[in-house]
Amino acid sequence: ESSPVSLIIRPNRTQHFTADSLSVSCEDQNNSTGWTVRRYTDNETSFDCSSVPGSTCNISSLSTSHTGVYWCQSESGGCSISVNITVHNGAVILDSPVHPVTEGHNLTLRCLYRNPNISEASVDFYKDDSFLQNQTTGEIIIISVSKSDEGFYHCKHPERGESQKSWVSVRGLSYGKAPTSVLKLLSSVATASLYVLVTILLAVKCYRARAEPDEDNRPYRVIEAETSF
Ligand SMILES: *[C@@H]1O[C@H](CO)[C@@H](O)[C@H](O)[C@H]1NC(C)=O
Ligand SMILES: *[C@@H]1O[C@H](CO)[C@@H](O)[C@H](O)[C@H]1NC(C)=O
Ligand SMILES: *[C@@H]1O[C@H](CO)[C@@H](O)[C@H](O)[C@H]1NC(C)=O
Ligand SMILES: *[C@@H]1O[C@H](CO)[C@@H](O)[C@H](O)[C@H]1NC(C)=O
Ligand SMILES: *[C@@H]1O[C@H](CO)[C@@H](O)[C@H](O)[C@H]1NC(C)=O
Ligand SMILES: *[C@@H]1O[C@H](CO)[C@@H](O)[C@H](O)[C@H]1NC(C)=O
Ligand SMILES: *[C@@H]1O[C@H](CO)[C@@H](O)[C@H](O)[C@H]1NC(C)=O
Ligand SMILES: *[C@@H]1O[C@H](CO)[C@@H](O)[C@H](O)[C@H]1NC(C)=O
Repeated sequence: ESSPVSLIIRPNRTQHFTADSLSVSCEDQNNSTGWTVRRYTDNETSFDCSSVPGSTCNISSLSTSHTGVYWCQSESGGCSISVNITVHNGAVILDSPVHPVTEGHNLTLRCLYRNPNISEASVDFYKDDSFLQNQTTGEIIIISVSKSDEGFYHCKHPERGESQKSWVSVRGLSYGKAPTSVLKLLSSVATASLYVLVTILLAVKCYRARAEPDEDNRPYRVIEAETSF
């Protein structure tokens, strides 16, 4: 969140079709060109942007070898958050957000087809391989997401087949407020320690009182003595 640079993916989704175009750029508040798009794949040699220093990387025709982790890096070594981009040569992809969704926001997932002639059909959406919903619109909206909505999603069209899975992550509202959480944790630990300490002290006192009873610590005798009057 406090990163000075934003990694922008156009079209803004995780999955892409082969032969489509993709633009990856690094944009900071100063419109500075000091950022370079970087990528990590299994096959580093195939990155056609690595030789062109600049804050935008345009790929005119994607291939499956463009699948990988992308991020922005400055000359001084600063980095943006990284994102996963996957390129498929199939007929169906899932349109899911590249960046984490903030808790409480809505999550829209869409099934997209290489052949734009979409036949009317009920599209099934899955989360972690379990059936979630079916929609004839090819789109579902998960209202006000929470941490439990995090997972691998995919969609399935009855004739065109299914998409690959993509990870959707949910960012908590407390993101970036770690110091407060640490303080809270420390104060809970301090309170708990004090409680344990007091309990131990009382237990020791009580044990001693029982183990070595003296004249002052015999309530029954005192009561007996009183009732005998
Ligand atoms: C933007 O430019 C100003 C002036 O050149 C500089 O002081 C500031 O650090 C820059 N900010 C970022 C995020 O690069
Ligand atoms: C950065 O560039 C965009 C478009 O070119 C412009 O609208 C914006 O005002 C610029 N921002 C700064 C801080 O220069
Ligand atoms: C990497 O890409 C090159 C060129 O596309 C190819 O010849 C080579 O086999 C690839 N290596 C791996 C490990 O995939
Ligand atoms: C990349 O593509 C976008 C539009 O898709 C265009 O506006 C931009 O100028 C291109 N940048 C480069 C460096 O080719
Ligand atoms: C990218 O994908 C890899 C492998 O599926 C996963 O381990 C990693 O957490 C993902 N990163 C992001 C930012 O989604
Ligand atoms: C989420 O969707 C619901 C229902 O469509 C709408 O009322 C609400 O304003 C949306 N919330 C956000 C944060 O967009
Ligand atoms: C889409 O449908 C139209 C009319 O049915 C047809 O002419 C066209 O070839 C189809 N396009 C593809 C890519 O199949
Ligand atoms: C959608 O899913 C429900 C529940 O699984 C099922 O009863 C219904 O037949 C499905 N609708 C379509 C059009 O497939």
